[in-house]
Amino acid sequence: MDILGLSFFYHDAAACLLREGEVVAAAAEERFSRKKHDFGFPRLAAEYCLREAGIGIQDVSHVGFYEKPIVKFDRILSSLLATAPRSYRAFLTAMPIWLREKLWIRELIRRELGYQGEVLFGDHHHSHAASAFYASPFEEAAMLTLDGVGEWACGGYGYGRGTELRLLRELRFPHSLGMLYSVFTAFLGFEVNEGEYKVMGLAPYGRPRYLPQVNQVAHLHEDGSLWLNMRYFEFHRGVRSFGPRFRRMAGRRGAGTAILTVASWRCSSCRTLPRAALCCTWLRGSGFTARHQREHRHDDASAGAGPDSRAEVPDTSGVSEVGPGMD
Ligand SMILES: [Fe+2]
Repeated sequence: MDILGLSFFYHDAAACLLREGEVVAAAAEERFSRKKHDFGFPRLAAEYCLREAGIGIQDVSHVGFYEKPIVKFDRILSSLLATAPRSYRAFLTAMPIWLREKLWIRELIRRELGYQGEVLFGDHHHSHAASAFYASPFEEAAMLTLDGVGEWACGGYGYGRGTELRLLRELRFPHSLGMLYSVFTAFLGFEVNEGEYKVMGLAPYGRPRYLPQVNQVAHLHEDGSLWLNMRYFEFHRGVRSFGPRFRRMAGRRGAGTAILTVASWRCSSCRTLPRAALCCTWLRGSGFTARHQREHRHDDASAGAGPDSRAEVPDTSGVSEVGPGMD
């Protein structure tokens, strides 16, 4: 069985071909198009994967897309409506693109590749977890995923065992470690989704003298989950990363911002971020091993919902046919 996995329309579009569960070929579109972080449809990467596998598109039994566009659209629409009228510009920008293109992934894949078969849509964080777990040598493992945002989830933990993969709890948008990371990247004058590694590299050269400010905008709960004070941010309105309140709190950046200040900022946020990532194991409360997670998941669920950012994952995850443009 040959399965072609695709990701596109966010950043770094890519394709991967699996044969009987083994990776035959994988490539990012930018390697062929020569456009840095190319997010367009990965036609060249897909063609490369098929070529490496020695097959044509008609031999592919399933094409998988890495997230569920309708659920993601629900999050974007809900966030923009909840923050109206301030989000109206973002609304006017986003809606035509979504209605014209991003909601019609199945049709686009079929059209671009001349593919007639089934297109499956996986949950964003399941795709992250699956790419790590299924490619690992482990039969059983506890898993933690953290990113900017997928559909609604910004992170989650769970377990994998054999072919079973289950995320038990998740952090929900907008309380995102990855978005906090991006905000600091943008504030320091670097390009989001590109410059993070640079500020990370600078961090060891700074001192954590802005730690109080960082703690003002991001709070770690005892169980390791994260809460962002959204009065400081703008990303949930789909416009900028951070707002005037953040700027007032953080001071001016730009030409006057010395590189050591950058490092100090990064250092301060790093004091929070790795701790968050480690604590984010909420696993501390539920046991770190996959076995413990399975055994304690009911304890977790009965421990209460807590703040809005934390939620138990409904058992509707994994690959499904629920996607836009279903026949
Ligand atoms: Fe992600």
